Amino acid sequence: MTELLRINGDMFELFITEEQIRERIKELAARINADYAGRVPIFIGVLNGSFIFLSDLIREVTVDCEIDFFKLSSYGDAKISSGQVTLLKDLNCQVFGRDIIVVEDIVDSGLSIAFIKKIIEKENPKSLKFVSLLLKKGIPKLDFPVDYIGFEIPQDFVIGYGLDYAQKVRNLKSIYRLTVQGTAKPE
Ligand code: PRP
Repeated sequence: MTELLRINGDMFELFITEEQIRERIKELAARINADYAGRVPIFIGVLNGSFIFLSDLIREVTVDCEIDFFKLSSYGDAKISSGQVTLLKDLNCQVFGRDIIVVEDIVDSGLSIAFIKKIIEKENPKSLKFVSLLLKKGIPKLDFPVDYIGFEIPQDFVIGYGLDYAQKVRNLKSIYRLTVQGTAKPE
């Protein structure tokens, strides 16, 4: 496994391995299986970043379930959130009266899931919970809990396993964090 990655002058180090991710997903899925026994939740992935986590997570889920997707954009190609969340693709499923589990790859500023919470609550779900593989510590803008958290991480820029660097490297199997920032801009 590559320990260090250099992209456009930025240096990244291995942070969370694919084995650690796999083990943590099993633990999260076990909790979800217990909490949703006898129910049929809808997992709602937030594109693009969550697609790999969602696909690995639901393959460890043993209760009947459905899936759907939102597509949002808050970062564009930048490393820091623009502070503006835009809805690029709405849901196709009916949320009313259903158990909804929103799946994120990362909660950073919290703006995206706060935005999603408002949209979903308007449709009166039976229940609404959030699962995120990564949660950045000390989020000032989040006034509700993320129910299932894979890893709490510091305020570093992270890539891989769905998380992009200027739309690339989502296909890395592990998660890497920025250690040395170069002067080059993402291409
Ligand atoms: C990323 C990530 C989350 C969101 C989290 O999405 O996938 O959806 O940012 O950040 P926040 O808590 O500060 O809102 P991004 O907008 O980069 O799009 P992507 O999923 O296509 O990478």
